[in-house]
Amino acid sequence: MGKKIIITAELEELTFNELSVEDQTLLTEAKNISNSAYAPYSNFLVGAALVLNSGLVIKSNNQENVSFPVGVCAERSLLGYAGANHPNDPVKTLAIVAKRRGEDVWANVSPCGLCRQTISEVEMRFNQSIILLILKPDGNVIKVPGIQSLLPFKFEDLNS
Ligand code: THU
Repeated sequence: MGKKIIITAELEELTFNELSVEDQTLLTEAKNISNSAYAPYSNFLVGAALVLNSGLVIKSNNQENVSFPVGVCAERSLLGYAGANHPNDPVKTLAIVAKRRGEDVWANVSPCGLCRQTISEVEMRFNQSIILLILKPDGNVIKVPGIQSLLPFKFEDLNS
């Protein structure tokens, strides 16, 4: 019989008021930028905002394409911009929210596989875990301490 390996991940669920002011601001910025998502095909409007170690906050949203796979998620759009424009400033926290066009309630969202791998790369680049804040429809927030919790047993080394 093979050896069973169990991988565990601990996430935290917090009310909005239990978050720090910085984290609350990030979620608010993510909500704001979700309104200008370019999502005419899915009508699923995603907003992402991050704070760098320096304290600078930047945000982005999903940008779709008539050739569907060409579209870019909010998280990757944002992390690409951060890496290009702030190459020496590590990403501290990344907030993600989503809403279906025309609906009042926030939708369930969680980074896709490509975005998880991208977040992993940014963590490795700066040797620093990225805290994720994910808004739930009930208004509570899932706080993830780093991508390891969402992407266990990940590909991270070409030489081992
Ligand atoms: N999407 C994101 O931007 N981020 C996520 O975390 C989940 C999905 C986008 C991709 C596509 O534009 C739309 O949401 C529907 O999948």
